[in-house]
Amino acid sequence: MKINPQMLVCAAAKARKGSVSPYSRFKVGAALLTAAGEIIGGANVESASYGLTCCAERVALFKALTDGKKKFAAIAVVARCDGGPMPCGACRQLLAEYAPAAKVFIADSDDLAQVRQFTVAELLPAAFTLAR
Ligand code: THU
Repeated sequence: MKINPQMLVCAAAKARKGSVSPYSRFKVGAALLTAAGEIIGGANVESASYGLTCCAERVALFKALTDGKKKFAAIAVVARCDGGPMPCGACRQLLAEYAPAAKVFIADSDDLAQVRQFTVAELLPAAFTLAR
């Protein structure tokens, strides 16, 4: 499938507007591209019990998975920080399990034209998985 990183990064920037981040005020948006070409957005949601916070990547992934989507071609993640936000360890694990073939696009919300690209295996080499 032909992937347009710019288009997916724009979708992540749009999804970022849904961020619920009253504690950190760090807004993150993610956009997942399914193998069928559908885009599912997500944003980080924080809790007063800080550890319950869920990252944008996982919100998008959980939305897609629970809507029956199983194959993913790419994910874009956008926030306002230099170079864009690198996914945390927990999100890398979930991506390795549920979106191992996805390209990962990262961008700063103030500079969406500069997109960094990774594979999930680069972000989490030798990932732990169970045979399913
Ligand atoms: N966050 C994400 O949404 N994705 C990441 O990859 C890193 C961190 C969120 C979690 C929290 O709401 C805020 O950024 C600050 O850590």
